[in-house]
Amino acid sequence: MQAAIDLSAEKGVLRRRVIVNSIPEHTTQIDVEGKRYINFSSNDYLGLNREPALLDELHKATLKYGLGSGSSPLVSGYCDAHMKLEQLLCQQTGHQAALLFNSGFSANHGLMTALFDKTDHIIADKLIHASIIDGISHSGAVLKRFIHNKVEHAETLLKKYNTSALVTESVFSMDGDCAPVEYLSMLCQKYHTQLIVDDAHGFGVINLCVAPNVQPKCNIQIITFGKALGCQGAAVLGSKQLIDYLVSHSREYIYSTALSPINACLAYSACKYIADNPELQSQLMSNIAYFKQQAKRRNIDLIESEMPIQGVIIGDPEKAVEASNQLKSDGLWVGAIRTPTVPKNTDRLRITITAKHSTEDIDQCITALDKLFMNEEYCHAR
Ligand SMILES: Cc1ncc(COP(=O)(O)O)c(C=O)c1O
Repeated sequence: MQAAIDLSAEKGVLRRRVIVNSIPEHTTQIDVEGKRYINFSSNDYLGLNREPALLDELHKATLKYGLGSGSSPLVSGYCDAHMKLEQLLCQQTGHQAALLFNSGFSANHGLMTALFDKTDHIIADKLIHASIIDGISHSGAVLKRFIHNKVEHAETLLKKYNTSALVTESVFSMDGDCAPVEYLSMLCQKYHTQLIVDDAHGFGVINLCVAPNVQPKCNIQIITFGKALGCQGAAVLGSKQLIDYLVSHSREYIYSTALSPINACLAYSACKYIADNPELQSQLMSNIAYFKQQAKRRNIDLIESEMPIQGVIIGDPEKAVEASNQLKSDGLWVGAIRTPTVPKNTDRLRITITAKHSTEDIDQCITALDKLFMNEEYCHAR
């Protein structure tokens, strides 16, 4: 273990935790070791984490259901709070059925390992999340990856292999760009394969399908509650047959304490809240547009993205950490994302914009980035 720790430190990729406390009266600010920062690294894109209406729901749900589910779902851990959330998610996405998991990681892993085995070939985007890669790898299936978002390459692989499923993300977690889901869906129909979309960073920000009676654009959709919904947990959505199958074959579902009913109630209330308050999504989009416009004025070279995830490539793990530290000294908390989370030489700053950032917050971020990129070491980011 020590040798591995030392090696990671030598390569500049050793991870360490810091205690980050949120500040109740300022949704976009955090406290780290007694110092305040504007948080540009949260996936709580709509700023629901401290929404008073949702805190009230939490209180009511706790009184009604107690703290935890008390058991795995097939024993006695499945209650009406879970069922209501599954039904709402089906209404909002157009899928027939849903199944709740404790996290997006366990949903992806539990789905892939239950569905596939060594007789399957899976085709996936090069940038899919670690939980999907691990799930496919542990299922024994053969994984072939296409160049990020290149549908022509996906088609070449579909022609070559008898494929069980094509997997992508709706909004990519580290680049913030969107997959061409409609095009991939057409390809999957042409080659008689299933389309699986991890919608972790899309649900609540852009919706794959919202109108009633509209067919979903993918066969299986994974939603996580820890991003735009501001809480915790995840769901797999698809056909009734898929969900019936997972109920008796997904080990993550069967052998784990069910998602707490309080979390199910919170995710339910958050979905309703987003639907009832469309101005939140509009505010988020207008903040993103403002950030991009200001970055362009200063010639800051952002990774192409219309979503809350905005990146600047630094290209070296140690320099990415140094850049993040410099932003901290200017009062901004921006994550340095290093290899192997992102491909080698694409170490970066990952800036997330939320609906709750003020114009002043964004201006402060742009000014600090501008100052950082004056430095010769980072001038390539212009
Ligand atoms: C694309 C994607 N899928 C799945 C996950 C896992 O979700 P969770 O954080 O709920 O485990 C994440 C987040 O970490 C993600 O970015």
